[in-house]
Amino acid sequence: MASDVLQSALSIWLVISLVSAGVVRRQADDLDEQPCTTYMVNGLLHLDCSNRGLKDLPDELDYDAEVLLLSNNNFRSFPSQLENFTNVKALDLSGNHLNIPIPDYLEKWTNLTTLNLSNNLYDTWIINAQKYAVKILDLSKNKISIIDDRAFTTMPQLHYLDLSENRIYDLPAEVFAEAHHLDTLILSRNYFSDVPAFQSPSLRSLQLCSCQVANINVDSLAGMGSLLEIDLSMNQLESLPDNLASYTLQELNLSYNSINTLTDGTFSSLPHLAVLDLRGNEFRDVWSTSHFASNPFLREVHVKGNRWSCEGFSVNLLLTYEFLTKEPPKVFDIKSLICYTPSNVTQMSWQQAYIKTWHPMESNTPSFTTMAVLVGIIIGVVITSCVCRGLMAVSSPTPIRQQPETTVLNLNGGVPQSRVESVVLRVPLREDLPPSYDEALLMPRLNSSFHSLPDFVDEEEEPRNYRRSRSIGDLTESRPRMGDRRSLRRPVEIHTRITIDE
Ligand SMILES: *[C@@H]1O[C@H](CO)[C@@H](O)[C@H](O)[C@H]1NC(C)=O
Ligand SMILES: *[C@@H]1O[C@H](CO)[C@@H](O)[C@H](O)[C@H]1NC(C)=O
Ligand SMILES: *[C@@H]1O[C@H](CO)[C@@H](O)[C@H](O)[C@H]1NC(C)=O
Ligand SMILES: *[C@@H]1O[C@H](CO)[C@@H](O)[C@H](O)[C@H]1NC(C)=O
Ligand SMILES: *[C@@H]1O[C@H](CO)[C@@H](O)[C@H](O)[C@H]1NC(C)=O
Repeated sequence: MASDVLQSALSIWLVISLVSAGVVRRQADDLDEQPCTTYMVNGLLHLDCSNRGLKDLPDELDYDAEVLLLSNNNFRSFPSQLENFTNVKALDLSGNHLNIPIPDYLEKWTNLTTLNLSNNLYDTWIINAQKYAVKILDLSKNKISIIDDRAFTTMPQLHYLDLSENRIYDLPAEVFAEAHHLDTLILSRNYFSDVPAFQSPSLRSLQLCSCQVANINVDSLAGMGSLLEIDLSMNQLESLPDNLASYTLQELNLSYNSINTLTDGTFSSLPHLAVLDLRGNEFRDVWSTSHFASNPFLREVHVKGNRWSCEGFSVNLLLTYEFLTKEPPKVFDIKSLICYTPSNVTQMSWQQAYIKTWHPMESNTPSFTTMAVLVGIIIGVVITSCVCRGLMAVSSPTPIRQQPETTVLNLNGGVPQSRVESVVLRVPLREDLPPSYDEALLMPRLNSSFHSLPDFVDEEEEPRNYRRSRSIGDLTESRPRMGDRRSLRRPVEIHTRITIDE
């Protein structure tokens, strides 16, 4: 019995090991026989041999493939089978160990548009005399430091070139002279210390992010007559030249540099500037709106991450704030327009800082109702006085005519005042002679006083004191005259009351 059990266990083990060996064997066969897959995407035949650790390509491939995916393998050279393809539109050899020039026979691939050699081991980029049809070339993440000055003359159709993450510190001026269709050039994460001054009449987008660029010259962009955008973010620029010139440039990204000053000349030769990114620089002084006087198309400005000083509270705080935020706003993140120093306005917006300093009595939001109430009071006073004047004109004018002159002369001391102020001025005089507010309003206006002034002076029989009597000091001192006024005034009051009663 025990031997039976042992026997069956053994046979089960045998079966299992045989089956599993068969499976493994079959899997190995599959890998050997079909390491690459073919499929159709967007009507294009793909041959996918990527991520297989290949050192060479297997035989019997579908040579009609239009997209050839050979990325992330161990190729040290271009696999020999490539020569049998002719239809290829895109060749992806990224993530290999290539460091040899592209083979001549690629010249025959007249449909080849995309060549991806990203993440290989290229340290120089030198090309033989053949012409290639390539439009999109990705050479990013290599170790390229030397580029032959004829290198891209062999790719007359080149449209998009990615040279980011290499070790380039300069580019020959003529390197793109024959790449007449070059549109986008990515040079980010290299070792330029200056903006490279190459010629490319067709280039529209230049990316020079994280390149240690410390200098940009007035004519740095002179050879790029179609340039629309340049990204100079994350570099080491401390200043910008006056009159940096580009007639076409629309987007200028200078974020994360160390720039601390703008002048009226900085953007004066960029007439089409529309988007300006100055985030994360070292600006302290709030700009003047005149810095942007030559940029009528400016529509987007980024200012976040600068430590604005609102010291001195110059009027620029308000003017530039309005320039950047009024409709249509140029700064979308309005919260970025905040003061960093001095400490008593930290975190306040430029506008708040300005208003709090120059108009400290006003609330944060300048109250519209306060203004309305003030205007209302003024209008009310004016209307009231007009009505009263009308009433007085209706009532018999003769007795009044002389009285008003006396009163006004005494009150205002001959200094012409607006009517509202004259009402106010009467208040202190109430001690001597208390007219009610209504009475005060009913008093004749200042305007007419001087016409009959000589008559009054004659009455007083003090013609020589006429000038001196124009000061309030004199008036308050001359008690007798006050008495006179009081006696003269009574008829006016009586008369007025009668008029109102009617
Ligand atoms: C591939 O091309 C080479 C040379 O052009 C030729 O000798 C070879 O037979 C071709 N292989 C196939 C499978 O077509
Ligand atoms: C290029 O592609 C077209 C179709 O888009 C095709 O007719 C032509 O044969 C291809 N040329 C080569 C050399 O394969
Ligand atoms: C090239 O390949 C890399 C990695 O596979 C990929 O990230 C990149 O987008 C490709 N470039 C182009 C232009 O398709
Ligand atoms: C400018 O560059 C920075 C950093 O590269 C990026 O985050 C930002 O979006 C760019 N600005 C614009 C307006 O594209
Ligand atoms: C803040 O302090 C400055 C002096 O450093 C002073 O001139 C200014 O009036 C203060 N502003 C406010 C809002 O208190």
